[in-house]
Amino acid sequence: MYSSFRPGQVWLDTEGKRIQAHGGSIIVVNGTYYWYGENKEKTDGKNGIWHWGVRCYASKDLYNWKDKGIIIPPDLENENSSLNPKSCMDRPHIIYNEKTKKFVCWLKIMNDYNEQTETILVADNILGPYKKIKEGLKPLGMSAGDFDLAVGEDGKAYYYFERVHTETICADLTDDYTDVTGEYSEHFPRKHPPYVREATAHFMRNGKHYLLTSGTTGYLPNPSEIAIADTWHGPYKVLGNPHVGDKTQTSFHSQVSSVFKVPGKKDLYIACADRWLPNAMDKKYPIYEKMFNAIYSGEKFDFSLMGEEPVQNTSIADYVWLPIYFDGENVHIYWKDEWALDEFE
Ligand code: DGJ
Repeated sequence: MYSSFRPGQVWLDTEGKRIQAHGGSIIVVNGTYYWYGENKEKTDGKNGIWHWGVRCYASKDLYNWKDKGIIIPPDLENENSSLNPKSCMDRPHIIYNEKTKKFVCWLKIMNDYNEQTETILVADNILGPYKKIKEGLKPLGMSAGDFDLAVGEDGKAYYYFERVHTETICADLTDDYTDVTGEYSEHFPRKHPPYVREATAHFMRNGKHYLLTSGTTGYLPNPSEIAIADTWHGPYKVLGNPHVGDKTQTSFHSQVSSVFKVPGKKDLYIACADRWLPNAMDKKYPIYEKMFNAIYSGEKFDFSLMGEEPVQNTSIADYVWLPIYFDGENVHIYWKDEWALDEFE
């Protein structure tokens, strides 16, 4: 049994197996926490298996997670399916629609670098079965990458996504949450990667909207950015990098996937991040620091110093869950080797 979070250390489920919920999020259903994400159990970076569906875990305390199985299975029959293990399916997001009483899941499909699309599924229960209702969706006619879905208190839902590789879009969802309405706003225009924002995580605090994002460097980590606004559609003001004292310029060697407000706590938000390539990175920390310092200061940098791309064995990706601290409206994330919920009111 765990009684604390240990960021960056191997996290096992209640059966003693590595948790496979990468690029994940937490949703609360009837007082139980469900953590779902990409199941990478068969991925080794060489065999062409990108994913093995979406796996989901249940917990009552956020530390100990029981495997509830694969809720969206890989499609082993159809090579062309967006759910085939060779298809680059990432970042499941599930929201509940009070009106239709359906759980709605959006998936990002990255099979063509410049033409990323969405697959949409619905279910009556969080654990499925999920029915695929749309595939190859290009929201607003755009190539759509990393994203987050969020539902307001009035039941209206919003979709924040990376318009590949140019800017971040906030789009209104239709009443059934399975499409966009056509209303949208544009944020953080950037010339190109690594400055373009990925892995958007939206959260709300004291009526303000926050977007926590990463830069664009594949599975290699980079500095995060936090922005704040008064409305869903902004305008968003960039507050800077929330990872305090992160000299390595890697968001403590992680990429935030989602932010979870802990029910019953006064002001506790957890930044849930992935450490995608735990082995490959350690020896590269110093060079990363140099590279990002150069990139962000506009100095020249010899990219050959980075050496070969590490093997992308994401089956052993770890999790980095850290509490968010607020100073007025500012957001700070500090490194902790270990922490517990009872440290917070
Ligand atoms: C960065 C994205 O945030 C991830 O979801 C994943 O698509 C990787 N790129 C793949 O390189």
